[in-house]
Amino acid sequence: MKPVRAIAHSNIALSKYWGKADVENNLPAVPSLSLTLDGLSTTTDVCFDPALADDVVELDGGSSTGKPRERIVELLDRVRARAKLETRARVESRNDFPTAAGLASSASGFAALALAATRAAGLELDAAEVSSIARRSSASAARSLFGGFVSLGASAERAERVAPAEHFPVVMLVAITASGPKSIGSTEAMNHTKKTSPYYPSWVEHSPTLYEEVKASVLARDIERLGAAMEQSALMMHASMMASGPAVLYWTATSVAVIHRVRELRASGPPAFFTMDGGPHVKVLTEPAHAEQIARALEEVAGVQRVLRCAPGPDARLISEVS
Ligand code: DP6
Repeated sequence: MKPVRAIAHSNIALSKYWGKADVENNLPAVPSLSLTLDGLSTTTDVCFDPALADDVVELDGGSSTGKPRERIVELLDRVRARAKLETRARVESRNDFPTAAGLASSASGFAALALAATRAAGLELDAAEVSSIARRSSASAARSLFGGFVSLGASAERAERVAPAEHFPVVMLVAITASGPKSIGSTEAMNHTKKTSPYYPSWVEHSPTLYEEVKASVLARDIERLGAAMEQSALMMHASMMASGPAVLYWTATSVAVIHRVRELRASGPPAFFTMDGGPHVKVLTEPAHAEQIARALEEVAGVQRVLRCAPGPDARLISEVS
């Protein structure tokens, strides 16, 4: 069968997903809305090959083992079941961003894998169907099938586009504040939060209101209103995990220093708003006209290693069907 190559871009949630309504089927407990980024992409080749006795998985040039490999093989198994196929596959995946820095790669990774694997298995599915397959492996990956501004409802199987990339020209600056893998993965951390945090029910109750506020301000192209709701969503999510026993704490001194710098910068004029995910890096939303000034200011914060500049990005897509 023919090898297929797909590319998908990472996304940053403006309104966060944290916690599952259904762990077995990986359905989110709360609605989320993200921005797909033009930088930070994953390119994945998949080929189902009758000569293979087992699936072969290579990530960034190295052979994948353990849990990361298991999650990839599970996706391949679901695609095989759907395509009524027994054949094993060769998967080669590369990120164009520093994975060593601990930036999340599961969103772009599972989106690219779902797209390449379904097509390589001979399935002709629309983006919504591929989004559902990606979501089963990682809920944030469901959103990376679409470019621009994308939502995934509570208990929703598939993501949908809220607005295309060109609707609202914003810039997301990614301040890298540490190297090395993160302390605890998102899946484990959110399940732990649900089990042990007294603030989790409050997070689930209040996040739909913030989601609606984020969605309305994206549609209205109102960065001040968006920024306020985006920060509250991130802080409420982190508050719920900090109240777990034991606490999940992704923040470092540098993360906090960047947050304070962002607050100072916007007090002096330009719009700048922060968000954080399952790691110590801080992402800062601003307007194109102010992006360079803000990026330089963030580069000067002690402990910041580099600042990536990202614009709204495109849909996941097939690059080629090489023979
Ligand atoms: C903090 O999508 O990685 O980035 O569904 O268990 O794979 P799984 O979780 P994952 O969680 C992402 C959490 C987040 C917020 C977000 O992207 O909405």
